Amino acid sequence: MTATTSQLASLNQWIEEVARLTRPDRIHWCDGGDAENQALIARMLEDGTLLRLNQETHPNSYLHRSHPDDVARVEHLTFVCTAKRDDAGPNNHWMEPAIAREQMRGLFEGCMRGRTMYVVPYCMGPIDSPLSRCGVEITDSPYVVANMRIMTRMGEAALKRIEREGGFVKGLHSIGELNPDRRFIMHFPEELEIQSFGSGYGGNALLGKKCHALRIASHQARGEGWLAEHMLILGIENPRGEKHYIAAAFPSACGKTNLAMLIPPRGYVRDGWKITTIGDDICWMRPGPDGRLYAINPEAGFFGVAPGTSEKSNPNALASLQKNAIFTNVAVTDDNQPWWEGLDKRAPATDWKGNAFDPASGNPAAHPNSRFTVSARQCPSWSPMAEDPRGVPISAIVFGGRRASLVPLVFEARDWTHGVLIGAAMGSETTAAATGAVGVMRRDPMAMKPFCGYNFADYFNHWLSFDKAGANLPKVFHVNWFRKGESGDFLWPGFGDNMRVLEWMLKRVEGKAGSIETPIGHLPKIEDVNLDGVELTPEAREKLFDYDREGWAHELASIGEYLDEYGARMPEALRDEQRRTATALG
Ligand code: GDP
Ligand code: PGA
Ligand code: MN
Ligand code: MN
Repeated sequence: MTATTSQLASLNQWIEEVARLTRPDRIHWCDGGDAENQALIARMLEDGTLLRLNQETHPNSYLHRSHPDDVARVEHLTFVCTAKRDDAGPNNHWMEPAIAREQMRGLFEGCMRGRTMYVVPYCMGPIDSPLSRCGVEITDSPYVVANMRIMTRMGEAALKRIEREGGFVKGLHSIGELNPDRRFIMHFPEELEIQSFGSGYGGNALLGKKCHALRIASHQARGEGWLAEHMLILGIENPRGEKHYIAAAFPSACGKTNLAMLIPPRGYVRDGWKITTIGDDICWMRPGPDGRLYAINPEAGFFGVAPGTSEKSNPNALASLQKNAIFTNVAVTDDNQPWWEGLDKRAPATDWKGNAFDPASGNPAAHPNSRFTVSARQCPSWSPMAEDPRGVPISAIVFGGRRASLVPLVFEARDWTHGVLIGAAMGSETTAAATGAVGVMRRDPMAMKPFCGYNFADYFNHWLSFDKAGANLPKVFHVNWFRKGESGDFLWPGFGDNMRVLEWMLKRVEGKAGSIETPIGHLPKIEDVNLDGVELTPEAREKLFDYDREGWAHELASIGEYLDEYGARMPEALRDEQRRTATALG
């Protein structure tokens, strides 16, 4: 046992309690320092948890191959345990707290025998920001510790803040036996507690991220008058040096990381446009004294999707990955460099499971949900404003999903209430970020279906409540980068060219562009979107910039049915907005 304990009696007590239950050989309080990290890495290289990558091309970077059944979030095993079932809502799996605790007790009993128990104090958000919140994760996984060190402000400074504040989110994690039949991710939002067993995958095991910064924080935010959202935050600077910040919610593996670090097309760069990155996954926002929403990124690193990341699609991500990165479930080349589908033309030698890669197998070499973990500061577009304790003022909120049909490239909400409906009605095709079928369209309101820690009806109500006297709210937009044509190809080039859509949004924010008013919202006039250098087929121009009235009438009916699943708890204002839109569509 390490002698160091906290000044905070309640923290010490909890650590002792957990140790009595889980029976670790040792307890290690993480200070977050370099020496500690090096020792952890050395240990993991020794026991095979990490493999050394080519240190000439990728200094201080490592590969982790997970258990093959532990590669994504497990929504069917993720529970929100509130005292009343209705408070979790139909959007969550629910279990009675006492039963959940009993069940988890059984799993945790003695699970750390022979292992070290790491105590990881962390701060979500700039260490000195009043918007930040702290937690402590107990884990038996050194891989989790190494990732938490990149993803959060972990260690001594966080512990000091926790001791000063006296309160913190309690997260207990064990990889258990990595057995999918003995795996649960339990949340107790009313007690600010998380218990996660049986998985080492980021979204299930790095408890600061989805479990704390979204599920627990969304619950806290509701009570305290702020928002915890599944959104990237980017800064956009025009040639006159004026800056705006945009927050965008897309479901997992639908383009947040790419948009957050976008490099504008050449003409824009020449003219002096610039994109800076505040965050790529999570956004905490609160109204400031001027009525605007101010946002922080609670995270300190990126846990990004590897496949599809290339010099062409996302050069900033690639540049971030030159050193000090942890890769999970990627393939490797014969000279031991990390590789994934879409990176380049080289042939991988070894697949994500560690087997010789057989191109004839038809299987990808890297897992479709393979990931990289890297410090945000290594990103060339990283903005020091990410450390500003006040956060950044948000000018536009963007919702978007993966929709092969129906949904045009971009449209704007009429007002806040309509914007909340657009967010609530979001649909997207499922991806490899969660286990289960891929490519199935489902409702994913505000990209929060897997992450909202309470009843969606109450959540929408909370969103609506921000529209009040003195508020100066962002404009709300919806985008779709993933519309497909008859041939099955994407109609919009996407990636850097998404800048063109951002520019149109800014024109709208600044009142410098008109629009076409339709029942679904304001569509751009095609001549107001800079398409210089983009070749669009007539089919693309029509499908990206027009809307299909009949198809949308069906969509609105389906949205109405979805809202009805929440019964009388669904805010009337939102039902009214849906009815108004449906009626206008005829
Ligand atoms: P995140 O999980 O929401 O952060 O999504 P990512 O930015 O990591 O992107 C997920 C996948 O979508 C990757 O394979 C990207 O290459 C791909 N992607 C991202 N942006 C675009 C885009 O604008 N168009 C298309 N077609 N694909 C995109
Ligand atoms: P993503 O983050 O949104 O970047 O995919 C991980 C996740 O949501 O599981
Ligand atoms: Mn995410
Ligand atoms: Mn991402």
